[in-house]
Amino acid sequence: MSDPFHTTVEQAAALLRSGKLCAFPTETVYGLGADATNSDAVLAIYETKGRPRFNPLIIHCADVRMAERLALFSPLARQLADTFWPGPLSIVLPLRPGHGLADIATAGLDTVALRVPDHPLALDLLRATDRPLAAPSANPSGKLSPTTAGQVDRGFVGEVPVLDGGPCKAGVESTIIAVDGDRLVQLRAGALSRQEIEDATGRQVEQAEAGAAIAAPGMLVSHYAPNAALRLNTTPMPGEAYLAFGELAPHNSLVRNLSESGDLREAARNLFSMLHELDAMGAQMIAVAPIPETGLGEAINDRLKRAAAPRA
Ligand code: TXA
Ligand code: MG
Repeated sequence: MSDPFHTTVEQAAALLRSGKLCAFPTETVYGLGADATNSDAVLAIYETKGRPRFNPLIIHCADVRMAERLALFSPLARQLADTFWPGPLSIVLPLRPGHGLADIATAGLDTVALRVPDHPLALDLLRATDRPLAAPSANPSGKLSPTTAGQVDRGFVGEVPVLDGGPCKAGVESTIIAVDGDRLVQLRAGALSRQEIEDATGRQVEQAEAGAAIAAPGMLVSHYAPNAALRLNTTPMPGEAYLAFGELAPHNSLVRNLSESGDLREAARNLFSMLHELDAMGAQMIAVAPIPETGLGEAINDRLKRAAAPRA
């Protein structure tokens, strides 16, 4: 591994403005950032991650004003932005004519996924760069998302500069919602629960069907995968590592507990980190305890199912 390079906000902004990549912290996971208006820079994201080109990126903005220069907000979309930004909600909206984004950032779609991240360093960086930043999670495609700078360094063997903002407080990616007229369609469960969105808007949040007209093209079945194989909703057999949730039965091999008190927010925050740790400890098979499907449990179970899916 080359020596990791951890930047200041000013260094990160200078790199991004000159068309280079830089990883940065958000409240969800670390993002691999590029100037979203520079197609060579955005291309480098796809190359560095080994990411399929048909999978569009989330565009990060400093505030609603920057976002409104890129997309057309209906009153309902504006209500979502005003309620939940900065925060872990990505909103899919029609592109505004003259938006200036590189086509490759949206994979040539006529819509764009936008969010304002709730992390002081991310916001400082967006303001210092003064450009919208395309940023997928800062990991090689298909692998676990990073929630610390050290995990970014290990994923890219120290070859990507990182703005280190400590561990991410949410720990799973943003919730992605498409606003389609007066319908809200959830394209990806994430750190903002469906219930919170329904409570704030008084509308039902529909679940996107696989293969439907509106879908998140990047929702591959096998994704977020650790090196170890996973068995879900179970207890460990001899020799298996255990990812527990709630009270722990006696067990003497590799164990991590997502939340001893059974708190789903804590579990979401710990999910990727603990899978990274069990990998680093050499686990071959990880048994995972059942996680309730309520609140953030929806996003946790979604990530676990993809992590357990047969690998391509
Ligand atoms: O929390 C997050 O959202 C993190 C941090 C870094 O902000 N970012 C992230 O990005 O998870 P990424 O690239 O791993 O996920 C982007 C997802 C993909 O599933 C993609 O298909 C979907 O967003 N997406 C992007 N643009 C879209 C669009 N116009 N329509 C539908 N889905 C879109
Ligand atoms: Mg990702």
